[in-house]
Amino acid sequence: MDMRSTIAELVEKAIRKAFPDAELQESVGGFLEVPPDRKMGDFAFPCFRLSKTLKMAPPLIAQRLAEAIDEPGTAKAVCAGGYLNFFFNRENFARETLAAILSAPEKWGSSNEGLGKTVCMDYSSINIAKRFHIGHLSTTVIGNSLMRIYRFLGWNTVSINHLGDWGTQFGKMICAYKHWGDKETVEKGGVDEMTRLYVRFGVEARNDPSLEDEGRAWFKRIEDGDPEALEIFHWFKDVTLKDAMRVYDILDVHFDSYAGESFYNDKMQPVIDELKAKNLLQQSEGAWVVDLSEDKMPPCLILKQDGATLYATRDLAAAIYRQDTYHFNKSLYVVAYQQDLHFRQVFRVLEKMGYPWAKDCVHVSFGMVSLGGEALSTRDGVIVYLDDLLNQAIQKARAIIEEKSPNLEQKEEIARQIGVGAVIYSTLQNNRIKDIDYPCDKIPYVDEDGTPRVKYEINWEKALNFDGETGPYVQYTHARCCSVLRKAPEILAEPDYSGLCDDDSQYLLRLLGMFPEAVADACDKDEPSLVTRAVTEIAKAFNKFYYENRILDDQPAVLAARVALTRASAAVIKTGLSLIGLEAPERM
Ligand code: ARG
Repeated sequence: MDMRSTIAELVEKAIRKAFPDAELQESVGGFLEVPPDRKMGDFAFPCFRLSKTLKMAPPLIAQRLAEAIDEPGTAKAVCAGGYLNFFFNRENFARETLAAILSAPEKWGSSNEGLGKTVCMDYSSINIAKRFHIGHLSTTVIGNSLMRIYRFLGWNTVSINHLGDWGTQFGKMICAYKHWGDKETVEKGGVDEMTRLYVRFGVEARNDPSLEDEGRAWFKRIEDGDPEALEIFHWFKDVTLKDAMRVYDILDVHFDSYAGESFYNDKMQPVIDELKAKNLLQQSEGAWVVDLSEDKMPPCLILKQDGATLYATRDLAAAIYRQDTYHFNKSLYVVAYQQDLHFRQVFRVLEKMGYPWAKDCVHVSFGMVSLGGEALSTRDGVIVYLDDLLNQAIQKARAIIEEKSPNLEQKEEIARQIGVGAVIYSTLQNNRIKDIDYPCDKIPYVDEDGTPRVKYEINWEKALNFDGETGPYVQYTHARCCSVLRKAPEILAEPDYSGLCDDDSQYLLRLLGMFPEAVADACDKDEPSLVTRAVTEIAKAFNKFYYENRILDDQPAVLAARVALTRASAAVIKTGLSLIGLEAPERM
């Protein structure tokens, strides 16, 4: 069901009929425009596009084409200056659109475009021994949404959590644990306890510099595979992941692989050898680098003076490993734009190494996150932890349900869906490159040491609004569709599509018809917000249709048509929500 190509065909046919001798190479139908004002038609063909070839004034072309078009069942063509404006036959448009959607409602928007192709997606990629905080929210939900979008379009997806589980800090942490920690406290305190140990290390090392050596020695032991060091290191990792897993479960985010930085320990030497063999490695101030001055970039650091590998070295090994293992056709890195240079360097080095697939690596970058206008800073307490954030949103959602629909069944489950929905939606609402500032309340408190501090809490009031452009609003619209469908009597009548010829029904139909384009576009541009926008517009259009029309009309045939439109809307909204990672409760 694609009105654009139907109308394009109509135009091309008319051109051939009106100007049989004209030589037009391109598919002129592609020139169709959507008029700014719907009253001017559903599509407009700009005839000046042909005036050069035909050596004729646009209004005259429009007139000749209008005369050549005779398909009232599809659309009516009207001249307007140099434009040929098309008005769909509304009944026909409603019938065709609904037939197309309702033949497989849950598949509307999907395709086989990705069939046989694999996309690797590196997202979330949290750091070990750090609590999962709001700085990793965007990458987590953007990546999750892209995974769902690609899958919906037939791709085979491999989602990878490239854990930050490497660096000298782990040596220091083990050292601190050995001196001042114990198993039980860490098990109980989790990541927070590890952070406390790490902070203590910093403080103590200022007085006793030998601790730094000790920390380094522990790190060396991890690197060398010493059993004791490895055991503690892996345990730290498990503790962190256990905490993170709670958040992932709430968000319904899952990974195929947790191969993090440390996974590449034994996979870097071959890469270094290869760089050497290909004459790409140069020594610079004792370190080994790949020169990128030709590309106007600083050199890519491969080995430090002391022989230690770097973040980039791991990413080179990871990219090659992913190609060797998954044979990807595309490899995405959903990482903040601060790492823009890093990825440009890594991709360029891969290209210089002669890997043709380097061009298939894409940095999907996104904007900065701030809290009430302040940049994130763990040290200054300008931070919100994801588990707190989600729990607060769920709690607020619960309070709203208590107030609005106290008799709702499964309140707890629905509060979770709405709260989480509000969080995800607000992150995927705008273009990913846009910075996000979350409105915050600053709550004063006194910490264990008696120091007055401020805790940041995101204010979810607005995001939980059932009337604004929010996740709950779209979810609520879906629940409204479901409620209409529950109330609709068993339909026996053949739908009468003349009941869907008003502007509001037509606008809704049009948006539903364009939904597949929005999904394809979101995939092309790696931009989930295009789906967010499409599904929000559909929800708004449905509500307008709902207020302007009596869906449960007493004429069975009209009722049948409106119920069909409601059914299609419910299905498409549900799909749209699921593509951005939101659930669609049937009652709210
Ligand atoms: N752990 C990193 C961070 O938190 C992100 C890793 C992104 N992925 C990658 N392959 N470099 O900044």
